[in-house]
Amino acid sequence: MIRSVITGCAGHLPDRVLTNADLAAMVDTSDEWIVARTGIRQRHIAAEGETTSDLAVQAATKAMEAAGVGADDIDLIVVATATPDNTFPATATTVQSRLGVRKGAAFDIQAVCSGFIYGLATVDNFLKAGQFDRALLIGAETFSRILDWEDRTTCVLFGDGAGAVVVEGQETAGGNDAPGVLTTHIHADGRHHDLLYVDGGPSKTQTVGHLRMSGKEVFKHAVTNLSAVINEALDATGLQADDIDWVVPHQANKRILDGTARKFGLDPDKVVVTVDRHGNTSAASVPLALAHAIGDGRIKKGDLLLLEAMGGGFTWGSSLVRW
Ligand code: UT7
Repeated sequence: MIRSVITGCAGHLPDRVLTNADLAAMVDTSDEWIVARTGIRQRHIAAEGETTSDLAVQAATKAMEAAGVGADDIDLIVVATATPDNTFPATATTVQSRLGVRKGAAFDIQAVCSGFIYGLATVDNFLKAGQFDRALLIGAETFSRILDWEDRTTCVLFGDGAGAVVVEGQETAGGNDAPGVLTTHIHADGRHHDLLYVDGGPSKTQTVGHLRMSGKEVFKHAVTNLSAVINEALDATGLQADDIDWVVPHQANKRILDGTARKFGLDPDKVVVTVDRHGNTSAASVPLALAHAIGDGRIKKGDLLLLEAMGGGFTWGSSLVRW
């Protein structure tokens, strides 16, 4: 059977770091409040003129190097983003052009913070069906461009960045021990639009708009939905929480990460945490965290990874991956 195997992964962050102290000079907040409520200490912010596709191309180039593949080897590019360069065309087509990829398909996926998991589910199905051979999946965001920098309830939470993986269809024996994506699960519930949204858009306002969030409500839904979708992945594979070597979660709030780990009886040391340094980078956060834990040697061949995310829409999802 064909399985989708991740053969390269890398992240890219803009140079500029914005600390909690910097934010305390801009809005009525403090390092103490931000650290206690979110675990965030700093985030990276794109330079003027630096776009989502700039970050995406950097991450993709490094991921392709890690996988040992060139532009001719890629036939599908999916960019998960809620902050595209333009309303259209898809940022994925800009990335395709800049990487020198000349075949196959390229499109964006919009599932906000769950975008990478939605993208992984999409790419996995295309590869398993044999419609494409090798995909580049990128989560890339410049949320700094859609923040209301006078709203302390949201502007302290987010950052910019990109993470990318090369995923290829490989013949495997199947089963839970063979490398690759074992299972993916994605969900949406559009009734919760007003709890997390952007108050602008081409059709409604002809503006880009600003992010608006009812944080407490989102928090409650996040814990419930993430627990359900993690159980779904375990049930689908017959694996137990104990079998998980590393949780690579969407990085919205350290308290959500701790709460989810507690619920499954997982050692908090098994949860990859980058939210302290990156903030919430939306669709980029899972591949950035993955790249981080591969880079420092924590994730080793044969490890079982749980990827999960929840975001605006609401959308949420999970995946189990054998490394
Ligand atoms: O990635 C997509 C998914 N997103 C998430 O998962 C985010 C989920 N939500 C959260 O992470 C948390 O709800 C927040 C971090 C956004 C907020 O934490 P909270 O513990 O839910 O705080 P709160 O919103 O209930 O606010 C508590 C107090 C309020 O003051 P009063 O009304 O109690 O006087 C806020 O006005 O903290 C105040 N506050 C702040 N104070 C200092 C809100 N933002 C700030 C701030 N600095 N930046």
